Amino acid sequence: MIIKPIVKGVVARNAHPTGCKQAIINQINYVKTEEPIVNGAKKVLILGASSGFGLASRISLAFGGASADTIGVSFERGPNDKGIGTAGWYNNIFFREEAEKQGLIAKNFVGDAFSSKTRGQVINYIKSEFGGKLDLVIYSLATGVRPNPVTGELWRSSIKTIGEPFTGQTINIETDTMEQMTVATATEEEIDSTEKVMGGDDWTSWIEILSEAGVLNTGCKTLAYSYIGAKSTYPIYHQGTLGRAKMHLHKTADTLNCKLAKISGTAHVAVCKALVTKASVYIPAFSPYILALYKVMKRKGLHEGCIEQMQRLFTQRVFGPDTAIPVDNQRLIRIDDWELDDSVQNEVDELIAKISPDNFSLIGDYQGYKTDFMQLNGFELPGVDYQAGIDLDSLCQLQP
Ligand code: NAI
Repeated sequence: MIIKPIVKGVVARNAHPTGCKQAIINQINYVKTEEPIVNGAKKVLILGASSGFGLASRISLAFGGASADTIGVSFERGPNDKGIGTAGWYNNIFFREEAEKQGLIAKNFVGDAFSSKTRGQVINYIKSEFGGKLDLVIYSLATGVRPNPVTGELWRSSIKTIGEPFTGQTINIETDTMEQMTVATATEEEIDSTEKVMGGDDWTSWIEILSEAGVLNTGCKTLAYSYIGAKSTYPIYHQGTLGRAKMHLHKTADTLNCKLAKISGTAHVAVCKALVTKASVYIPAFSPYILALYKVMKRKGLHEGCIEQMQRLFTQRVFGPDTAIPVDNQRLIRIDDWELDDSVQNEVDELIAKISPDNFSLIGDYQGYKTDFMQLNGFELPGVDYQAGIDLDSLCQLQP
């Protein structure tokens, strides 16, 4: 079988397993040549480990100097008679294979991170086969729904503004077009639900349950990822429903930090750079900003993908040279510093003002945006033979 990409709007409907493997290998090779993490965590749990920042964290911690054993939790689909499965499914498998070659433990749990079943399985595994203690817990879930743990009813997030609607442009990757759209304002209920899904509640409940189970090591750290962004994106992100949820996440870090003090542990939020991931392409009216940002940061030699961001996060901040993790006046770790540099943002603003549906692929970095998106799903990776047949039966034998 030859696999050709199927994209609907901004969603990839399939993935290329050989390309996913190549993408994992490329990221491993990158971190191996970078400045290594010194005194990094050895036993790590990553919630949301199969793609984007969570996967890059896992690769960085395993191969970028710390040689960490990792447990990854993710929600992915394997191959069946209806389809090839998701990129994250293959990322889990090929990461594990590469880690095991290095003698590292890489355990994958593919299931709902919100369910008590998954939590129970993870805790049993930590106690019975993972040495009993975690040094670091990374919370990198990105999702649109979360069940209420008491009633089971689903909270759904809404990516909307708060206050005024916002009209802007959005990329359609399927048709290579940019379309005008208006982002509506959220109701109070939508704001609350988005906070429930993408805020800090679930992070708290994971840390509490791990703490009660006695599996957090002395000095255990926990990290979650956030975005703030530039002023030009405030109406759709920072001052919108997602930003509100992230504020809740930031407050949660402070609360967890106090709770973890009793085991000399810490909780932080790392504010990351805007990047093309499975989750971020959903954000309406955000694409002109990324097109302009990529263009400017690449021109200035400052562009980073998830893997570059995570390697810098761990070497320079979390396990950096300072005795305490460097933070801003809100106690946030800033790894979005290069994105928010004034000289970058001045040029980004100028470029955004010029971007239109007629010229976005010429003056913005649409090529870079689309290539990143395709590569997230295993397509368009240099060196991969996309004409080589893929055997579905052997793929079905692969287990996470
Ligand atoms: P992603 O879509 O690449 O990864 C999300 C991960 O969550 C995947 O591993 C997925 O399997 C997992 N997941 C989703 N629902 C799950 C469930 N019910 N159970 C178990 N696993 C589940 O997303 P991305 O972009 O890496 O986002 C991770 C975090 O980084 C989010 O908090 C996001 O807000 C933050 N972030 C993202 C930025 C971006 O530009 N992409 C910028 C700054 C922060």
